[in-house]
Amino acid sequence: MSIIDEKWINETWEKLDKKLSRVAVEYRDAITYTTEEGKKYNNTANDKDINWWTNGFWPGLMWIMYDSTGNEEYRKTAENAEKLLDKALRNYDKLDHDLGFMWHLSAGANYRLTGNRDSYVRNMFAANTLAGRYNIKGEFIRAWNQPEKKGWAIIDCMMNIPLLYWASQETGDERYKYIAMSHADKTLKHHIRPDGSVNHIVCYDPETGEEMETLGGQGYGVGSSWSRGQAWGVYGFTLSYIHTAEEKYLDAAKKVANYFIAACCDDYLPKCDFRAPEEPVLYDSSAGLIAACGLIELSRVVPEFESKMYFNAACNIIKAIVENFADWSEDSDAIVTHCTTSYGAGKHWTLVYADFYLAEALNKLKGINTFLW
Ligand code: GLY
Repeated sequence: MSIIDEKWINETWEKLDKKLSRVAVEYRDAITYTTEEGKKYNNTANDKDINWWTNGFWPGLMWIMYDSTGNEEYRKTAENAEKLLDKALRNYDKLDHDLGFMWHLSAGANYRLTGNRDSYVRNMFAANTLAGRYNIKGEFIRAWNQPEKKGWAIIDCMMNIPLLYWASQETGDERYKYIAMSHADKTLKHHIRPDGSVNHIVCYDPETGEEMETLGGQGYGVGSSWSRGQAWGVYGFTLSYIHTAEEKYLDAAKKVANYFIAACCDDYLPKCDFRAPEEPVLYDSSAGLIAACGLIELSRVVPEFESKMYFNAACNIIKAIVENFADWSEDSDAIVTHCTTSYGAGKHWTLVYADFYLAEALNKLKGINTFLW
């Protein structure tokens, strides 16, 4: 018996659809990221921000809503955002490993849901560029472009490699999948700690692939436990298992998931870093919702006797966030509050990807199951 019932899911969904159907039309020619003073969305479809890593989540959110409701307004906004992103695809020097977030959720979603050929081509360009970032000797995908970061890899990339699994599936060419699995293997070995917590950044020697050091990245510090990094691990390894059926990825997903659940089960409202001092109190709702989507998928692939634990944990997290950190008023364009970009930024934001994962979670709970990964 789930801790949330159909009535709660349907009522929450109705509020989501009501707000987003207004926002979708208002931001028809934009790509949204966060809300500013006055709680209006900003627009990252400008020359400076068009390569921002989150720019696929707005069209991805629109595709989830379109697939769930059939409302054409969502589709039109998603298609516009995808076209705006063409500029980012041509900014070759600014492309980094976030090609998955940016195109698999925009062009990839369009192709999956409508069969659009132009979208297929965009996503294949993104996949090939991501594959080109693979360090052959080091056996990892390079995260960023700065020369001094040539050997840096981050846990977030586990959510970008589904683009490579997709490319292999579409073309029948195993090389993309090989690169994805090689990166996943390296991540498993170097990012996942024995207790199930996760290193955000691992710096390798770019010539040999030897681990040099780990960094706290967007978390509190070295050895801490940035909750969104944990969440990328939960969902990322679950997806690698779904795409490959390799038990080692399922085991990794469970290990990180067990740690995540234990770290937030007092109130199911994840802090920004599970190993930060008591003060200041910084939450990250985005981490909770990413993890919740991963936990629902995980609950579907583990044996029955384990399934309920992951599903109920996901429901607890979703319910806690909706009841404490959701703004359904029309004063704000965004829904989910109390997200953080990083521990160092020291404040709460709204983030479009938190709304994306809320929609994905509710879409799963409603049994629609739009799969974009
Ligand atoms: N991928 C960057 C972040 O999660 O903030």
